[in-house]
Amino acid sequence: MELQDAIAQRRSVKNFKRDMTIDDNALYKAIKQATDAPNHGHREPWRVVHIAKDRLGDMSKLLTKIAFAEQPKKQADHYQVVTNLGGMLALILKEDTKQLDSLENNMAFGAFTQNLMLLLHEVNIGSCWKTPPYIFDPNIEALFDLKEDERLVGFLYLTDLEDEMPYKKRHTENIIQKF
Ligand SMILES: Cc1cc2nc3c(=O)[nH]c(=O)nc-3n(C[C@H](O)[C@H](O)[C@H](O)COP(=O)(O)O)c2cc1C
Repeated sequence: MELQDAIAQRRSVKNFKRDMTIDDNALYKAIKQATDAPNHGHREPWRVVHIAKDRLGDMSKLLTKIAFAEQPKKQADHYQVVTNLGGMLALILKEDTKQLDSLENNMAFGAFTQNLMLLLHEVNIGSCWKTPPYIFDPNIEALFDLKEDERLVGFLYLTDLEDEMPYKKRHTENIIQKF
């Protein structure tokens, strides 16, 4: 696949109504390839926790007990959505106490994740980066075994590519100014 085609055709897949499966070997290959993202000082400020298809239900029950305590409807909705996925990744960023290094790590993580989403698209795995508010909950962090200097920066929902995706046109008119 041409790079430009991958960039133009990748979309955040937000349709979770069917039961889906993905190729975990292709996923692992893409994760490793995505690490060719630029990252200052070669700090490689990323790791992921893979929640495979057969673990999604258990994970959902544990997560929603924390995120949606006493909210059975929200718990059931999450379970329904998540167990339809082909898998999920918890995205884990390595923080830094130095302001500049921390900013660089955050930006490198974005480059890593875009690499990953493009590489997944190329092998027919859809994705959507999700950042629900409960990523800041210490009990959710503990569920994914985060260390002191790590931050949960979202989840990558993994899907197939069977649905037509709407294209939201970008605005490019005013993004370039001459100095
Ligand atoms: C850092 C980040 C966080 C996001 N968080 C969410 C989210 O919480 N829920 C969601 O539905 N989409 C989320 N998205 C996906 C965006 O909404 C999506 O990228 C946007 O709609 C553009 O669509 P496209 O990816 O198909 O081009 C997130 C994307 C990024 C880059």
